[in-house]
Amino acid sequence: MAPLLPPASSPKLCRSWLLLGLALLVAVDLSAADMYSEIELVWGASRTFFFMDGDSEALALSLDQWQGSCFRSREKYLYVQVDVEIKLIEGDSAGTVCTIYMISEDPWEIHDEIDLEFLGNVTGQPYTLHTNIFANGVGGREQQFRLWFDPTADYHTYSIVWNPKHILILVDGKAIRDFKNNEDQGVPFPTWQSMRTFGSLWSAEDWATQGGRVKTDWSQAPFVGYYRNYNVTWCRPSPGVAWCGDEPKGSTRFDLDQKTLADLQWVRSNQMIYNYCTDTVRFNATTLPKECTLQ
Ligand SMILES: *[C@@H]1O[C@H](CO)[C@@H](O)[C@H](O)[C@H]1NC(C)=O
Ligand SMILES: *[C@@H]1O[C@H](CO)[C@@H](O)[C@H](O)[C@H]1NC(C)=O
Ligand SMILES: *[C@@H]1O[C@H](CO)[C@@H](O)[C@H](O)[C@H]1NC(C)=O
Repeated sequence: MAPLLPPASSPKLCRSWLLLGLALLVAVDLSAADMYSEIELVWGASRTFFFMDGDSEALALSLDQWQGSCFRSREKYLYVQVDVEIKLIEGDSAGTVCTIYMISEDPWEIHDEIDLEFLGNVTGQPYTLHTNIFANGVGGREQQFRLWFDPTADYHTYSIVWNPKHILILVDGKAIRDFKNNEDQGVPFPTWQSMRTFGSLWSAEDWATQGGRVKTDWSQAPFVGYYRNYNVTWCRPSPGVAWCGDEPKGSTRFDLDQKTLADLQWVRSNQMIYNYCTDTVRFNATTLPKECTLQ
């Protein structure tokens, strides 16, 4: 296997664990979110490495034809904003999937999940950002987007905002997707199972790129994606309210502001390439998921 190297734009500081420990000890800005203290490796650890990318500690995940790699947050959250900066695989990334997602643990049958999956492509062709939301074990809420920049050229910030009234997905602070809490209309919404964040890089050449027609070119391996500045902000309740889940029903605390509404509208008109709510081949008027007629 070819050696893993940090991206060309950053200092080549691939460190041993000992050096990493020393680097952390001497790190000056302890307030900056650091990956190492927030996350743990789950699988494919030998295909990952931490390194200093400028002032931030970054984690590289890699994939070869034998295995990918995956990390998860040490903590579980209930109502939170999670931000992470990701720089996707450069060049030919066909067949690869790089992810950041949140998921609850057992029982699987009723699990909640919020997915961002970046589907790779051949050199020069655009990535697809595939998103899905599961509530109470039921998903099938796919929406896909084109990004308005090259996500392999630099880091961009991807965020999941989860509060009692909305799940929002943001890209560089711009809302691209909103899943509203319509529990009072009979649509499940994640309100009680805590979730952990996961990030992974794996192969899905059967379906990921151009519907599976383009397979992975393993001679390009290892494929490497970079993550940094993992940042967690717990949901802040109104004064006098113990936690976000206790916010009074009539509270306007989590209502979407004008900028968010405008961003969602812009993304929907310009960047959305698939929306389950408008998929009339898959659903018809009688089988359309309920939330599609409410939002
Ligand atoms: C983390 O996110 C919060 C809320 O968006 C932001 O105010 C803060 O500056 C971020 N912290 C870091 C270290 O990026
Ligand atoms: C890859 O590029 C093709 C051609 O531009 C495009 O149709 C497709 O949506 C892109 N993304 C994926 C994941 O196949
Ligand atoms: C669409 O509705 C008809 C009944 O009006 C039903 O027979 C058919 O199976 C439905 N198609 C799908 C894809 O659900």
